[in-house]
Amino acid sequence: MSGEIAFGASGEIESEEGERLQKVLARVGWGSRRECEVLIEDGRVKVNGEVAVLGRRVKTQSDKVEVDGVVIGVAPGLVYYLLNKPVDVITTSKDTHGRKTVVELVPLEPRVFPVGRLDADTEGLLILTNDGELGHRLTHPSFGIEKEYLAHVKCGQNGVSESALKKLREGVELDDGVTSPAEVGQVQTGVLRIVIHEGRNRQVRRMCDAVGYPIERLVRVRIGPIIDRTLAPGKWRHLSTGEVVELNQATTN
Ligand code: URA
Repeated sequence: MSGEIAFGASGEIESEEGERLQKVLARVGWGSRRECEVLIEDGRVKVNGEVAVLGRRVKTQSDKVEVDGVVIGVAPGLVYYLLNKPVDVITTSKDTHGRKTVVELVPLEPRVFPVGRLDADTEGLLILTNDGELGHRLTHPSFGIEKEYLAHVKCGQNGVSESALKKLREGVELDDGVTSPAEVGQVQTGVLRIVIHEGRNRQVRRMCDAVGYPIERLVRVRIGPIIDRTLAPGKWRHLSTGEVVELNQATTN
């Protein structure tokens, strides 16, 4: 529309033609402007479904930008938080009758939503964002993003039996079907490291229950490429642009 102005990242006025594509890509972490020019020259970037050429400008609010077939968020104001969720905090953005929620542990504006969920009694890493596209891909089963947990289970002094570990690895019969193969190891007597690709409700707890070792403490320590051993419970930090790029890459078909 003639005379229309929009505000780009950092509040600067974006011209009607939009911003240069390589500048936008560099800002969201795909490398230096020169590296982003090479991405464009190599035909790896599409705008609104068409391969972009150097000199292309984009309207960050409305144009759909893809790198290597992955839609990436370029709109100004996208935020990505990594939270270390403590126990007794609910993973929801809705009203919970006074119970504390994960969205209350991060800045209130802009509004973000949790990506996937952790039970109230589960601790550990949770991503919150307002990037609906990435959030959708991270939880979509077709991408099978790995989630890694440390599960402290109730067991005797001999720890978890080899046969139970084998069942957990190969698949456990649950009331909503058999679980997919998982990576499972006993890192310490009674402490299991479990990597799953699915995200069924209370899956890890139900898997451990099913083989006779109920969980006493469950901590998520990795989401795809994202780990953080220093973030204290209840604290959050921004994901770096590099981490956001890695998440985008991890959800490429
Ligand atoms: N599996 C569970 O059982 N609980 C969680 O919170 C996450 C995975």
